[in-house]
Amino acid sequence: MAADEDLTRGNIYLIGFSGTGKTNSGRQAAARLGWEFFEMDDEIEEAAGKSIPEIFSEDGEDRFREIETDVLRTAAGCARLVVSTGGGVPTREENRKLMAESGYVIRLSASAETISARLTASAGRRGRALRPLLGSEAPVERVRSLLAERESAYATADGEINTEGLRHSDVAQLIVDTWNHLSGESAG
Ligand code: S3P
Repeated sequence: MAADEDLTRGNIYLIGFSGTGKTNSGRQAAARLGWEFFEMDDEIEEAAGKSIPEIFSEDGEDRFREIETDVLRTAAGCARLVVSTGGGVPTREENRKLMAESGYVIRLSASAETISARLTASAGRRGRALRPLLGSEAPVERVRSLLAERESAYATADGEINTEGLRHSDVAQLIVDTWNHLSGESAG
């Protein structure tokens, strides 16, 4: 990670609900740009020395959100990172400010039905629930109500990509195109 105090808005932050492809598309977008990829959930688990479900069950959601903001602050002190944020990150004003000051924020979106189907399939493949707020089934009603609760936070993004029906590689290219448009640069 290149620490760069002078470069403002040097990162790309991918925000959006679980199951919108932030990790897979973000990793591919970073490769196209020649940047580093920063997966917040992995960094949180490393900082805490335990899994996200364990943090939620042993320490509570408030503690999880504190660690999350600390990890975001670390990313914000760097440049040329594609940051895959956890789905709850934009709900905190402090987090929105950190992202807006240090990068361009791109929202990945999908319908509640698509998100629910993707999450249920991936939890089934892994044999366990990875998202404590949703459980292993990720019922569409629960996804719909959390999406509605978070809509105003997600809507603060500088750009949005509807991932519906797209491959991760297509979304990765759209992330690069959106960043070029927002930053006035030409890369990837
Ligand atoms: C959360 C989303 C998860 C993870 C945690 C909380 C949320 O990340 O940070 O389970 O509040 O929506 P992903 O969006 O990567 O699934």
